[in-house]
Amino acid sequence: MTGISTTGVPHLGNYVGAIRSAVEYSHDGTLESFYFLADYHALVKCRDAALLEQSVRTVAASWLALGLNTDNAVFYRQSDIPGITELNWILSVVTAKGLMNRAHAYKAAVDKNTNDGEDADHAITMGLFSYPMLMAADILLFNAHRVPVGSDQVQHIEMARDIAQRFNHHYGEHFLLPQAELSADGVLLSGLDGRKMSKSYDNTIPLFCPSTALRKLIMKIKTNSLPPEAPKSTEGCPLYDMYRSFASAAQVDEMAKRYQEGVGWGEVKEALFQCIDQALSEPRRRYQEIIDDSSYLGKVLSAGAERARAYSDKVLRSARQATGIRALN
Ligand code: TRP
Repeated sequence: MTGISTTGVPHLGNYVGAIRSAVEYSHDGTLESFYFLADYHALVKCRDAALLEQSVRTVAASWLALGLNTDNAVFYRQSDIPGITELNWILSVVTAKGLMNRAHAYKAAVDKNTNDGEDADHAITMGLFSYPMLMAADILLFNAHRVPVGSDQVQHIEMARDIAQRFNHHYGEHFLLPQAELSADGVLLSGLDGRKMSKSYDNTIPLFCPSTALRKLIMKIKTNSLPPEAPKSTEGCPLYDMYRSFASAAQVDEMAKRYQEGVGWGEVKEALFQCIDQALSEPRRRYQEIIDDSSYLGKVLSAGAERARAYSDKVLRSARQATGIRALN
């Protein structure tokens, strides 16, 4: 299982780091997998209603366009599963406030306030504070074993384990303890400025921008000033890493040779553009088709929600039962 935060527009780094392997998992018939759009989490960071809705649409369409197999994997929207927020409350009574105090996003916000001379909790909402608890509800409601996440989310999965253990200790064994799995398979893509490609650095290349915009952005990627004929190192070269993430093994070998012999950055960028543009041309077409069909996303997501609830309703019932929230007779 993994949650997909629905803020902003998916970029190449999201694809290489998370989406691609999730799509592969979704085709593995031996796995029971769950992917959901974490719109309640997005709400913590985005109070623009139109933008929030738009992000859900964009992210859902992107995953589908990239080939997520929703016949096998269960694909749904978090807010379509009321059991998640119900479980969130039940978990809140066994979650130590001190545990939430240690969550890195909350701590960073407090540190910033302190540095700025503000009150420690200035502008910090309960949504931000309880963010990891809602994640625990997402995961435990489905008794997920393996949760692929980026390194910034590992702490939250550890917290979900902690919360599950507390519940189990008090009310008996109900929840499996989830295991975080680092999802970025090897390379993390660098962005336009050489730092990790991330929405927060504003250095991303959107997955489904038109060809011409894609080319322009690739041409903007920062490089060193070695002349074309100078041999170049592939080690730690952002262009090479990006090329490696999209090209075939034979193409990568060929490119490594060209680096050794000396190749101009302009040529590398052109090859990189061709390669990515080709890999994305079919998904791009599919993406547009999905966006243009006003009823498709709604249909796919409500079917997913129904399958998800069939699973999670049982878990919620047993958690309610265990805590004494049960029928009076
Ligand atoms: N917080 C995660 C992120 O920002 C998204 C997420 C929400 C999630 N709920 C989850 C990930 C449950 C894994 C499991 O990427």
